Amino acid sequence: MAYLLGVDIGTSGTKTVLFGEDGTPVVSVLYEYPLYTPQNGYAEQDPADWWNACVNSIRDVVAKSGVPAEEIKGIGLSGQMHGLVMLDGDNNVIRNSIIWCDQRTSKEVVEITEKVGHDRLLSITANPAITGFTAAKIMWVKNNEPQNYEKCRHILLPKDYIRFMLTGEYATEVSDASGMQLLDIPKRDWSDEVLEKLGIDKSLLAKVYESPEITGTVTKAVAQATGLKEGTPVVGGAGDNAAAAVGTGVVENGKAFTTIGSSGVVFAHTSDISIDLKGRVHTFCCAVPGCWHVMGVTQSAGLSLKWFRDNFAWGEMETALSMGVDPYYLMDKEADSVPIGANKLLYMPYLNGERTPHLDSNVRGAFVGLSSMHKKKDLLRAVMEGVSYSLRDCVEVIREMGIDVSDMMACGGGGSSPLWRQMLADLYGCEVKTTANKEGPALGVALLAAVGAGIYSSVPEACGAVIKPDKVQKPIEENSRQYEKVYALYKKLYPAMKANYDELAALDI
Ligand code: XUL
Repeated sequence: MAYLLGVDIGTSGTKTVLFGEDGTPVVSVLYEYPLYTPQNGYAEQDPADWWNACVNSIRDVVAKSGVPAEEIKGIGLSGQMHGLVMLDGDNNVIRNSIIWCDQRTSKEVVEITEKVGHDRLLSITANPAITGFTAAKIMWVKNNEPQNYEKCRHILLPKDYIRFMLTGEYATEVSDASGMQLLDIPKRDWSDEVLEKLGIDKSLLAKVYESPEITGTVTKAVAQATGLKEGTPVVGGAGDNAAAAVGTGVVENGKAFTTIGSSGVVFAHTSDISIDLKGRVHTFCCAVPGCWHVMGVTQSAGLSLKWFRDNFAWGEMETALSMGVDPYYLMDKEADSVPIGANKLLYMPYLNGERTPHLDSNVRGAFVGLSSMHKKKDLLRAVMEGVSYSLRDCVEVIREMGIDVSDMMACGGGGSSPLWRQMLADLYGCEVKTTANKEGPALGVALLAAVGAGIYSSVPEACGAVIKPDKVQKPIEENSRQYEKVYALYKKLYPAMKANYDELAALDI
């Protein structure tokens, strides 16, 4: 049997999984690392942390699996999108990576819109200028750290930096490159027009591949450090969401998924390019050559629950430790004991600003309706519901664009919660399903590696052979009726509070 390695460079850690060619996971290892928030709205990580986690996890997986290195036929890379990695002429990292959820670039968003023009941006990059995208981060370094920009010779995305370290190649692929706002999305290659208008030298950027194409091979030094075979092919892979699509079989029209990871995403496959003229959802190239996807993003989905756990759920964490269970399992049980509507408590999940549907970097989170009767479990339920309302907002926009999302899968850490999946089914008014394969993005890029290695002839063929359905949650009519009442109120909160958030952002304190 042939084996494939999937490496997912996420925000909280890097997960490496070895799969058999039939998609069976053999060994999975996760190494975590910190996220730095030096100022309100900033988010940075150290690429050295990603690389250490990558080498350590690959070495552990190869050693634990006992699979001979020559049977590992390919490697796929997936990762958090949009992060900026800058290398100098000696390939040293110049500064910490400014990552996807960083919101420091409001001024650069205005600058980009002025320089390229709103309509040109939409027709070339399929998106309006966005604080989280890489172009704005590049412009921020240009404007605020000219000494760093001067030194820069290569610009890479997080997973593409790992590719460079594994293979020595400066390469990217269409799905992740789509999130840089420098790619011509209909043409699937860098946009000379955007680069010229922003004054970014094309030679700084990596070569663009389709996701299943081979981009390079493992070097001798990496082979020695990890136990891999020198020359093992590394395929393009995909940004975490496009990779999760492959890992859940969302590779044809009508199929969609919701993932609740750090961010929350509603992702729909489309074989024709389709752009929301209001810019509320992203249109990106997907990992299936020649196809695209539309994607709505809730900035702080799982991150909201993690924030709540880390700051308020110490008791649950201690109990979970003594019981040998996951704290989220206990938190789920507590939230499940609270009725729909969390006893009239609402949560706005905008801890790091919001993309879909507001596209507002100033907005912040809120509990609305707090009363002395509320207990921690009410807040917990409100957090899960608030995230679900925000995901429903994403579904609304995608449906408005005429894209069918009724074949809906759920994945990501939050997708493993039956309570959260039921909330989604009730709020979307359609079944929400899981797959038997739980490794999402890591499996997705391992399948891309299998296509690159010639084991399968296409991405849909690989998915057809490997992805198996598991649980189905049907919407419950009575629940939907209750949620609709709260959702109607939730939708009124942002417009009512927007001006206050702008004022808060501008406060000189
Ligand atoms: C997508 C996005 C996030 C990150 C982090 O546009 O910003 O999903 O990829 O997971």
